[in-house]
Amino acid sequence: MKPMVLLSHPLPSEWIASLEGQVHLIVGPDERPGWAPNLLEALPAAEGLICLLTARVDEALLDRAPRLRVVSNMAVGVDNIDVAACTRRGIPVGNTPGVLTDATADLTLGLLLAVARWLPQSAQDARAGRWTTWSPTGWLGADLRGATLGIIGLGKIGMAVAERARGFGLRVVYWQPRPKENKVGATYVSFEELLAASDFVSLHCPLNDSTRGLIGETALRAMKPTAILINVARGPVVQTEALVRALSQGWIAAAALDVTDPEPLPSDHPLYSLPNCLITPHIGSATYGTRRRMAEMACENLLAGLEGRPLPHCVNPQVYEG
Ligand code: GLV
Repeated sequence: MKPMVLLSHPLPSEWIASLEGQVHLIVGPDERPGWAPNLLEALPAAEGLICLLTARVDEALLDRAPRLRVVSNMAVGVDNIDVAACTRRGIPVGNTPGVLTDATADLTLGLLLAVARWLPQSAQDARAGRWTTWSPTGWLGADLRGATLGIIGLGKIGMAVAERARGFGLRVVYWQPRPKENKVGATYVSFEELLAASDFVSLHCPLNDSTRGLIGETALRAMKPTAILINVARGPVVQTEALVRALSQGWIAAAALDVTDPEPLPSDHPLYSLPNCLITPHIGSATYGTRRRMAEMACENLLAGLEGRPLPHCVNPQVYEG
C-alpha cells in the first residue's frame, strides 16, 4: 500500500513528478485557503502533508492525523505550522529555503522603485489621458543614490536585498536581535536608529512571537515623514490599523506591501483606498523557476520523511535527536 499524502492545493503535475507511483495523493481544490473537506475527511489515514502557507497545521489538525510522519511546507516561512506541536509528536517539518531568495529580493527592489517613482500612478495617468505634456514637476519621486535603506532581518533575503541596494548607491543599515558578520556592506544599528535614519525600511524577518506587531504606532511615528515602508515578509509584522493611520495622516510617505494582515486583504479594505499604498498579492516567490523548484523541494522533503530519512530542509531537526 502506498502512503496516503494530502496536498492542500493543486500543483502542476511536472512540478510534483517525483511523487508519481510513490504515494496515494489526494489533492484539495484550488483558489481557497485552508484544508478542504475532502482533505479533512482523509486526515485519519494521511501519512504525509504537503501544504501551502495558506493551510494551517495546528494541534487540532494534528489530533485528527495520528498516522502523520511528515509535514512539508511549500514555503520558507513556517508560521502557518505549529512546529512545536509537530516536534512533540516527532513529526519533521520541511520548508524551502534559499531557492526563493533572489525572486523575493528582486520583488523588494521592484516595489521600492515602484513606490519611490510613482510607477502605478504615472502609468495610470498616462493611460487615462493625463499625460498632456512633459511636466517638469509631475510625478516627482525619491532619489536612491545616497539614501538609506534600513533592513529589518538580515537573513538570506535581507542580504540579497542589501547586495542589490548597493548597486543603486543606497547606504544599507540593518537591525535584528544580534549583529552578524556580512559581506554586503550592511551596518548594524539599533531598531530606533534604523527607524530614524532610513528613507526606506524593508522587512525581511520571520513572523514569530517577537516580530508580530513589531511595526506599530510607535515605530511608524519614529520613521521619517518621507520614509517608505516595504513588507515582503509576513503581514502581521505590521499592525494594519496603525499603518492605515500612518499613511493617511502622513507619519510616513508611502508603503508597498506584498503581504498583509489579514491575507488576502478584502477588496473593500481601507488600505486599497490610499494612493500612497501599493499592494501586491503575496508574489515574492512568483517566478516560474522559483515556484517549480519550491514544489520540487517540498516533494523531496516529503519523500525523505516517508522513507524515514532526515529531510533535506528540516526546521525541527530536534526530532532526530534521541
Ligand atoms: C513565502 O512567503 C514563503 O515563505 O515561502
